[in-house]
Amino acid sequence: MKTVHLINDVRSQVNTWQQAGLSIGFVPTMGNLHAGHMRLVDAAKQQCDKVVVSVFVNPTQFGPNEDFDTYPRTLSADQTLLVKHNADLLFAPSTNEMYPQDTYTWVEVEHLGDRLCGANRPGHFRGVTTVVSKLLHIVTPDYAFFGEKDFQQLAIIKRMAADQLFAARIIGVPTEREASGLALSSRNGYLNETEKNQALHIYQQLKQAQTAIAGGNRDYATLSKHATEQLTRAGFVVDYFAIVDAIDLSPATEGSTELRILTAARLGNTRLIDNISCTIVQN
Ligand code: PAJ
Repeated sequence: MKTVHLINDVRSQVNTWQQAGLSIGFVPTMGNLHAGHMRLVDAAKQQCDKVVVSVFVNPTQFGPNEDFDTYPRTLSADQTLLVKHNADLLFAPSTNEMYPQDTYTWVEVEHLGDRLCGANRPGHFRGVTTVVSKLLHIVTPDYAFFGEKDFQQLAIIKRMAADQLFAARIIGVPTEREASGLALSSRNGYLNETEKNQALHIYQQLKQAQTAIAGGNRDYATLSKHATEQLTRAGFVVDYFAIVDAIDLSPATEGSTELRILTAARLGNTRLIDNISCTIVQN
């Protein structure tokens, strides 16, 4: 696997592959790679001839009081893992390479970006869509892979790609979890042992809501309120626990059939997010 730091080097390598008729899969990341990211790389490898991975801690998606400075940067461990999973090219640009001048042009997806995490992290999704748009222009993949772990991000990027007529197909990949149910995340590294045990409540509450809905409960407001109370009792500050339509992320109604249950909750300074699907078979 080659590692490159310059946009031109990515372009010329990808161009060579495309000239040879090879398909390109792309997995954008912020590094500190774990088995969740590798699930995306494996999916890309299965579907495409060549796999490009980017590692870039994108400053524009972090708020002023968020963890941009402390976000773990572990490039050599990332390279080792990527080699094991047969990635073909790693693009690890500097901030200056990605943002050579003040940004006047932003990519922003309306509506989907202002709710849920968007309400608690103003500007976050604008930073994500702006950098993903740049990366897609650089790599020009046939397929780009994103985790369902960040379900709102995935929905927003799908919408951006459709609205902006990107050639790349956006593929969602299921969430990789520990045996305990805890979704793998680079931010789990911030948790001590006690907090890691507390964190298990997140998946438990998602599962409980999923089971209640599968059993016929349609009182989404009360289910969300109950889960919020349980998480608060377990020591979390809950940003939201929401049951929404899986496509447009609007609050689920009686008639909704494809639902997503999502939550974001904080333990100390660590903000954790997770979600699960929920399909309703209408009689
Ligand atoms: P990052 O948090 O590094 O995640 C990179 C990709 O890995 C995202 O698509 C995310 O959903 C996926 N991922 C993370 N944990 C996962 C898990 N446990 N199971 C499956 N997939 C998982 O998300 C970002 O970076 C950034 O916002 C980015 C899209 C790179 C833009 O800067």
